[in-house]
Parts: sequence; C-alpha cells; structure tokens
Amino acid sequence: MIVALNNKCNLTKEEFIPYQKELIEIKTSAKLIWCPSNIYLGMMNNSNLAIGAQNVNSKNSGAYTGEISAVQLKSLNVKYCIVGHSERREYQHESNEEINNKIKQLLKEDIIPILCVGEQKKDRDNHQEEQIITTEVLEAIKDLSEAEKNKIIIAYEPIWAIGTGLIPTTEEITKTIDVIKNLLPSNKVLYGGSANENNIEELKKVSNIDGYLLGGISLKPEKLKIFLKKLEK
Ligand code: PGA
Repeated sequence: MIVALNNKCNLTKEEFIPYQKELIEIKTSAKLIWCPSNIYLGMMNNSNLAIGAQNVNSKNSGAYTGEISAVQLKSLNVKYCIVGHSERREYQHESNEEINNKIKQLLKEDIIPILCVGEQKKDRDNHQEEQIITTEVLEAIKDLSEAEKNKIIIAYEPIWAIGTGLIPTTEEITKTIDVIKNLLPSNKVLYGGSANENNIEELKKVSNIDGYLLGGISLKPEKLKIFLKKLEK
C-alpha cells in the first residue's frame, strides 16, 4: 500500500522540525511518500520516507520567477511529485495541457508524477464523473509512451470529498477506480479526500485501491499512526 502525505501550504519552520521528528519515527509496512511545502524539500534529513513535491514548473529551468523545475527537484532527491491537484486546478487555473507538460518534465528527470483527478459534486449528481475523469486522465497522459504512462500514480480525489469529511460510498469509489484502471491497467491508483483514522475501515472494503493520498490527517502524526495501524490489520 502506498500512503502519500500532502501537507499542502502548512507548517512554519518551528512547527516543521518537531513534526518531522514524529513522522520519521513512524513504523509501517506501507510505502510512505511525504510531500511537504517546497520550502522544506532541502531540509529533509531522513531516510524511511520517500520525498515528494506538491508542484513543479511546466517548463525547464530558466527565467520563470517563483517556479521550481523538475531538474531542481531531482537535485534535492525528490522522487515523486503531485500534479493536477484540484486546488491548483481551481486557484492557479492549471489546465490539462499544463498538467501534461508538468508530467513530461517530471518523467524526463525520473520523478514519478502523482496525478490527481476527480469530479465536483454537481458532476456526480449529473452522472458525469466517468466522463470528467476520463478526460482528465487522457489529456494528462497525451503523447506519452506506454513505458512513461506506466510510471504514473493516479490519485482519485473527488473534489467534494477534499477536506469536507464526506467520502463516496465504497461502490462509487470501486466503480470510479475501475474507470481509471480500464484506461491505465498497470498503474497504481490511490484514493484521496477526507480519508482518516475513522473511515479507513470502510475504505478498506474497496478492493481496487492501491493506497491513499492524505491531506488533513497528514499533519497529525498521532492520527496518522492510528490510520496506518488500522490499514495494516
Ligand atoms: P484531505 O485532502 O485528506 O484533507 O481531504 C486530501 C488532498 O487534498 O489530497
């Protein structure tokens, strides 16, 4: 099982140091991928966690003020990078084309993209989730070779479930992950959106999940430990 931790735009330096200490002491058989804010990527002094970034420039290094390139991420030992998170699609107006370019930049540097896809509540109410997710996946992997496509991890994150405490039913998640696996049969697919220590027992009933992308609970090591323990049982 893969468990990716998306810290989003959280933790001051004073908070980050004790948080990191707690996180690296966690024992689990799950593969942990830790995605802190970019400013901390050069401060990671461990070990048992793979390091992921939350974003990358869609172009190479150069005159792109405020951006961080895949080459720079690689030089910091970053192995994974989230792309296409719904918060970036919404607030930074990231298009599928830009996401596709980010994935290409990452793959050039052997960094594994964690591609987020997901529908809004209104899309699910209108039974359009399959169509939305299919478009997001296909546009993100445009022009990639089979070998390149196979490297990508997909995170199914219904937008209405992120940070809301709501999760889809196990049937809904199973069906949507199947849609993704029909497009990309060899790829790992994670679930994200209000996954926590209280609903993990329910989420475990979904047999086609390969792991989780955790936001809120990633910032609370005590709860994360309970989540991981229940996941292993
Ligand atoms: P959440 O966030 O776990 O707080 O819902 C998940 C995510 O946005 O990746």
